[in-house]
Amino acid sequence: MIISIASDHAGYDLRQKVIAHLESKGIEVIDGGAESADKPYNYVEAGTKIAEDVLSGRADRGIAICGTGIGISVVVNKFKGIRCGTCTNEYMARMSRQHNDANVIAIGARVVGQAVALAMVDAFLEEGFAGDRHQERVNDIKTLENRNFK
Ligand code: RB5
Repeated sequence: MIISIASDHAGYDLRQKVIAHLESKGIEVIDGGAESADKPYNYVEAGTKIAEDVLSGRADRGIAICGTGIGISVVVNKFKGIRCGTCTNEYMARMSRQHNDANVIAIGARVVGQAVALAMVDAFLEEGFAGDRHQERVNDIKTLENRNFK
């Protein structure tokens, strides 16, 4: 599995921790976004990078980090085919996969602690999509995308 991860400056420190965590498990990472926590970097650019990596097939899933997780989740969800939830605990991360077939998770570096963030990342990568009635809802989302994305 290849993961595209990117953050703005607010997410820089957590991003480094997540990358180290993923690499320690042998997971390949495409890294993007802020070069440091001190140099402002726009979460719109970071989110765009992740969405393009996932939609092009360069990455299987994405991990998006900003201060709250909100701004970058709004950005990636502007791309047709991206399903991203901002998660604040492991249960939400697991459900984003099981019920929503999320292909990107957004995390707020100023909201959750490092241990919770890593547990969410693990849940997001391990969990499968439950399909069945949830597939019907994802299909409905795709219908909405086809209607509303120009
Ligand atoms: C950056 O200060 C902050 O606005 C950003 O990281 C994020 O929280 C926006 O949603």
